[in-house]
Amino acid sequence: MKRILCMLAIAALMQPAFSQTSQKATPLTQEQFMSLAKTPPMGWNSWNRFNCNVSEKLLMETADAMVSSGMKDAGYEYIIVDDCWQVDRDADGWIVCDPERFPHGIKYVADYIHSKGLKFGIYSCVGEKTCAGRPGSQGHEFQDALFYARSGVDYLKYDFCYKNQANSWNAYHTMREAIKTAGRPIVFSICEWGTTKPWEWAEGMGHLWRTTYDIGDRWDRGESKEGGLGVINIIDANRDLYPFAGPGHWNDPDMLEVGNGGLTPAENVSHFSMWCMLAAPLISGNDLRSMPQETLAILTNKEAIAVDQDPLGVQAHVSVEMGDKQVWVKKLSNDEWAVCFFNRSEKEWGLNYNMMDIPELDGGLYDVRDLWEHKNIGKTDRNVVATIPSHGVLMTRLTPTAVKSKGRR
Ligand code: GLA
Repeated sequence: MKRILCMLAIAALMQPAFSQTSQKATPLTQEQFMSLAKTPPMGWNSWNRFNCNVSEKLLMETADAMVSSGMKDAGYEYIIVDDCWQVDRDADGWIVCDPERFPHGIKYVADYIHSKGLKFGIYSCVGEKTCAGRPGSQGHEFQDALFYARSGVDYLKYDFCYKNQANSWNAYHTMREAIKTAGRPIVFSICEWGTTKPWEWAEGMGHLWRTTYDIGDRWDRGESKEGGLGVINIIDANRDLYPFAGPGHWNDPDMLEVGNGGLTPAENVSHFSMWCMLAAPLISGNDLRSMPQETLAILTNKEAIAVDQDPLGVQAHVSVEMGDKQVWVKKLSNDEWAVCFFNRSEKEWGLNYNMMDIPELDGGLYDVRDLWEHKNIGKTDRNVVATIPSHGVLMTRLTPTAVKSKGRR
């Protein structure tokens, strides 16, 4: 019965479009498409924490939690259902959602999420099947894009399993054209795990592209081949990709594991800080309905988020390296910089560092602000002194001193 309800909801959704040609969509221009995601997208995705255990209840409760927790105010926007919302295609080829888990259909969920002032994202795959074996979009790209547009989808994550002989450029190009033709602004998240170097071809094709295989809830993958990559492995894989990121086109080091239990407190802070330094999409992957205050404090650190969302859209690079200690720098707008001291070692780092040694700062005088302690800690003409725990960071924002004092007068 529920299955019939789900299909009826979809049939009702499709009905007007077949009977009223005046409702024909106006395709998006490439310029309109490219203007989406000028800063890295922020939101929540179901996969890291819930895998296939998704439902309208989960999505709607998560939307509620995103608002009540203050995450929406901090900039999080998209509620994205990953794999397993779909079970079948009907006789006309329309995708069918799981009737048990989405008894009111997909548009109902999208409408609810929109009523909260948030946006709705969905998942599909290049191949005949998704990575979890559900129906993929191969051969149905334009029909699926139409379904997304009519359902109120604002974001599509498009995976790469069961691709057979598909060429990545062709596969993603087909879906991009389908999205544009359907006429609704939909952020397009390319997820081919970096296998065909999307940073070299995907600007203008999608707004973000995964750079690696899946993240796991751990710091370092080590020798193990199971359970996903560690945070540090992903940071290393993204280190040299900074020339390819910019407004509207982002390297995607995968969704956040902050708050999922596998990282120490210092590692959670470093994971979040480094994603902000990398100008990465900030897609939380924990259970927003029951997160402890420490997790929320990390995810909603507005000063760290401002580094990620800086309109200049520059991804950080390593400026200075001292064995397993690194200094990452990210150019910000208004001649500001984010500088992150990253202690990869197993020991504390007793930092006593002359910032004038960072070549990018060119000897300039800056006020230095600690973005986790939320306080100014001096100027660049004095050494910065701090104790950074193992796997921890000191994340700072540098503001030109002259500009600031001028403003005060
Ligand atoms: C792939 C993706 C993951 C997730 C799963 C879903 O592994 O990389 O992020 O979407 O598929 O099956």
